[in-house]
Amino acid sequence: MAKDVIIALDFPTREETLAFLDRFPEGEAKPFVKVGMELYYAAGPSVVREIKARGHKIFLDLKLHDIPNTVKRAMAVLSGLDVDMVNLHAAGTSAMMKAALEGLTRPDGARPLLIAVTQLTSTDAAALRDELLIESPMAETVLSYAQNAAASGLDGVVCSPLEAALVKERCGESFCTVTPGVRFAGGDAGDQKRVMTPEQAAGNGCDYIVMGRPITQAPSPVEAYRRAVKQFLG
Ligand code: C5P
Repeated sequence: MAKDVIIALDFPTREETLAFLDRFPEGEAKPFVKVGMELYYAAGPSVVREIKARGHKIFLDLKLHDIPNTVKRAMAVLSGLDVDMVNLHAAGTSAMMKAALEGLTRPDGARPLLIAVTQLTSTDAAALRDELLIESPMAETVLSYAQNAAASGLDGVVCSPLEAALVKERCGESFCTVTPGVRFAGGDAGDQKRVMTPEQAAGNGCDYIVMGRPITQAPSPVEAYRRAVKQFLG
């Protein structure tokens, strides 16, 4: 399976995003990047096309969650942007996940990877029990959502690097794990609570690591990116 480092382009404008990408030298492999809600809602589909035209692979992190027909139609639109990976909330249930797959699949049968968010890492055990009324422990809930995603034909889940090995155990080696919460050894964890280094993430079964601030805010982002790739891919 392909393994890669994905840079989270958490910038508020198209200009800042493109200025950041301009730092990566021409003639070298372009990094796989993640466009999230902030940039997409600010700059729209055109920035996605622009980044794609520069030769980057794109994970469009919009976390869809709606009735199956709406998600299917929205996914068809996103698929037309020629992105490489998109996601949705597994909480939308199998009916929604299967509809999303149908919407994503292009006439030639190709489609972006479809990844499910299980439980947001911002949801803690108390909120799970008291607000979502889910009695099962968090880890079991995450794994059960991952199994639903796998059974619906999805390609993988977003999970913490600490959960990646368990997801592989439960859903199979080829079920892909996309993991944020990665920091360089000795780096500032920021608001990420449970972190791993790129090397540890590789050892724990992560296929794609998503790194934002350790690369985007580094004095030399290109050097930080190369370090992440070297540590993750070996
Ligand atoms: O800057 P940092 O490396 O923490 O960025 C991580 C990226 O991954 C951000 O875009 C964040 O929204 C995203 N993310 C996360 N935790 C999740 C899901 C997504 O940090 N559970």
